[in-house]
Amino acid sequence: MGRVLVTRCLPEGGLDPLADHDLVGPKPDDAPYAPAELCALAGEVDAIVSLLTDRIDDTVLAAGAGRLRVVANVAVGYDNVDVEAAAKHDIVVCNTPGVLDDTTADLAFTLILAASRLASEAESDLRTGVWKGWGITQYLGRDVHGATLGLVGYGRIGRAVARRAAGFDMQVLHHTRTPTGEPGWVADLDELLAASDIVSLHCPGGDETRHLIDVRRLALMKPTAVLVNTARGPVVDEAALADALHAGRLFAAGLDVFEREPEIHERLRNAPRTVLLPHIGSASNATRTAMAQMAATAAATVLAGGTPPNVVPS
Ligand code: GLV
Repeated sequence: MGRVLVTRCLPEGGLDPLADHDLVGPKPDDAPYAPAELCALAGEVDAIVSLLTDRIDDTVLAAGAGRLRVVANVAVGYDNVDVEAAAKHDIVVCNTPGVLDDTTADLAFTLILAASRLASEAESDLRTGVWKGWGITQYLGRDVHGATLGLVGYGRIGRAVARRAAGFDMQVLHHTRTPTGEPGWVADLDELLAASDIVSLHCPGGDETRHLIDVRRLALMKPTAVLVNTARGPVVDEAALADALHAGRLFAAGLDVFEREPEIHERLRNAPRTVLLPHIGSASNATRTAMAQMAATAAATVLAGGTPPNVVPS
């Protein structure tokens, strides 16, 4: 039996795999632990079940070194965990791949549709009484069916989006750094951006993809294009995106992730033709429960001396 820090409230049943262990946390009000609190606790536990709102950096990991054996992050992304530092301190890091692909792809498609068809602006006008009746020139969006969809990243989630796109008769392109050998692969990201009517981001976060979509690349996109981000906020230069939307150099955007969550860039908040969601990509009851159980199982497996299948590479 080990001592496990659970940093935030998890869906009911999510911690069942750790039933035999001594659990610490979360805080009664579900507030995230401050960095100093995480450091203080890290040395007193054998495992941490963390969320993407926890920054598990070298300082936290060094504080845990010696006792802490595993950080199980309840997310497929792990840009909040310093994986190299964890390896240095012999701490295993796990994530939750596979269980959230379809739910996240559903949300990406929600944003593709809502942004292309100006659903947020139209609904807001209706709710606020701005809409005074039907007009043939109102809320003229872009068709999703038949459009060219450019996927940046083609892992499990990107592929799940591509499957949905087939039902909308879309032409699907994808860009990855290494060739997939599959139809639709575009070697040059710039070329994919210029050719797509809708661009949806499905690459990992972290230093390598920070501001991958910057002012120069936004300028390569068609002025009629729609950008959707369900990956990680820092992949897009938000200030540049806000400028492009305000200037009408991009038709619309659908965003589920932001550079400094929960802060939203002021010019994005008031940008036209923009759908903004509070990082709900994997937020279905079934999927969030499956994610929590997968992370909890991984922590329990490491504490029992095993190696779970979902260890992230260092
Ligand atoms: C959510 O953003 C995740 O990485 O699972």
